Amino acid sequence: MNNKIDLELRARAKAVIPNGMYGHESVGLLPDGYPQFFAKADGAYIWDVDGNRYLDFMCAYGPNLLGYKHEKINAAYIDQLSRGDAMTGPSPMLVELAENFVGMVSHADWAMFAKNGTDVTSMAMVIARAHTGKKKIVLAKGAYHGAAPWCTPIKNGVTEEDRANQIFYDYNDVASLEAAVNEAGDDLAAIFGSPFKHDAFVDQEMPNPAYARRARELCDAKGALLVVDDVRAGFRLARDCSWSLVGVQPDLSAWGKLIANGHPISALLGSEKAREAAGSIYVTGSYWFAGAAMAAAVATLKEIRETDYLEHTVKLGTKLRNGLAELAAASGFGLRQTGPVQMPLFLFDDDADFRKGYFWSAELLKHGVYVHPWHNMFLCAAMKDEDIDLALRAAKEGFAALKQHQGALERIGKLDALQAAHV
Ligand SMILES: Cc1ncc(COP(=O)(O)O)c(C=O)c1O
Repeated sequence: MNNKIDLELRARAKAVIPNGMYGHESVGLLPDGYPQFFAKADGAYIWDVDGNRYLDFMCAYGPNLLGYKHEKINAAYIDQLSRGDAMTGPSPMLVELAENFVGMVSHADWAMFAKNGTDVTSMAMVIARAHTGKKKIVLAKGAYHGAAPWCTPIKNGVTEEDRANQIFYDYNDVASLEAAVNEAGDDLAAIFGSPFKHDAFVDQEMPNPAYARRARELCDAKGALLVVDDVRAGFRLARDCSWSLVGVQPDLSAWGKLIANGHPISALLGSEKAREAAGSIYVTGSYWFAGAAMAAAVATLKEIRETDYLEHTVKLGTKLRNGLAELAAASGFGLRQTGPVQMPLFLFDDDADFRKGYFWSAELLKHGVYVHPWHNMFLCAAMKDEDIDLALRAAKEGFAALKQHQGALERIGKLDALQAAHV
């Protein structure tokens, strides 16, 4: 795999960007050989700056739902862009998009839009406090809600005060949730829940309906708001809020990533109960009301309503899961595949420092398949049957190479710094 241009860009980046790259798309914690810079993307594929093509199971870490460079979505974006994007006031798309969301998401009576997931998870926290006049937020341990001081997983630069008034529970554990709510006493503003447990580095877990129901009951009993952070999983599991699948309606849900198939916009949806508080806080941003991403979101929601994107990704994800399970068993590896098939995570048994996962993922990359060794992945609607065949052929080569080299694998030290800085 040629990587000359990538290496040149990394060297230039190092001079003018801290660490050469930052945030979740930095390849600093990925196996050697993963390209940092990409030249283009189309459908289910990405091309790095050196021209290598990969079947992309990261989907931009979530925004790519329907396929990169989707014609209808991009046409809607460009059409609005040609008329007006960031203006002195919003375009009619603001109202149309809010109507679309309220029509599709059963708990929602209103919508507000921002740019990033963190914007709307933070808004949810503030609205819950405004609604209740209480301070404490109960959150699942290890759940990701964004990169603001109150929720970033890296503690550098974060003060104790930024993290005050947070109480943690173990996801899916009713007793632990009850204990956290107890600890909040009469000062509970909100319980946050992820649609399913999709934390990095550990097996994913689907929500236990008893846990989700208990969260709803406890919020009702205390007058607190229930928040579902659907930024990563929204519309990947259901054409409604993800907890509709367990029969629980939150008061607030946070959305982002895929809602405009990659164009920059996020959404906070809320029930009638939270409307007044939502109207009482001050939140805004220079680009929050720009029309082009809203037009792209309207077009994306139409595709979500009218196509079989969901069933298609479940079908392909099932084929991938079954195929990988067979290959892993045939080569004698314990491969844990967790979470929904359309948002899989692969972790190897007996692989505490991820050395097997790193090696296997890097082998797949050499065969043109981009997978992640410790973060959940995503299928997109542009993937086809033959793409899954390609992934399975690459995985077979990966298992064979791993079998051959497993005795000689070295410890992965890259993650040590992360663990040390973790909150
Ligand atoms: C569940 C969840 N919440 C919030 C966020 C933050 O979104 P953003 O990176 O757009 O601020 C993410 C991003 O990965 C996420 O997965």
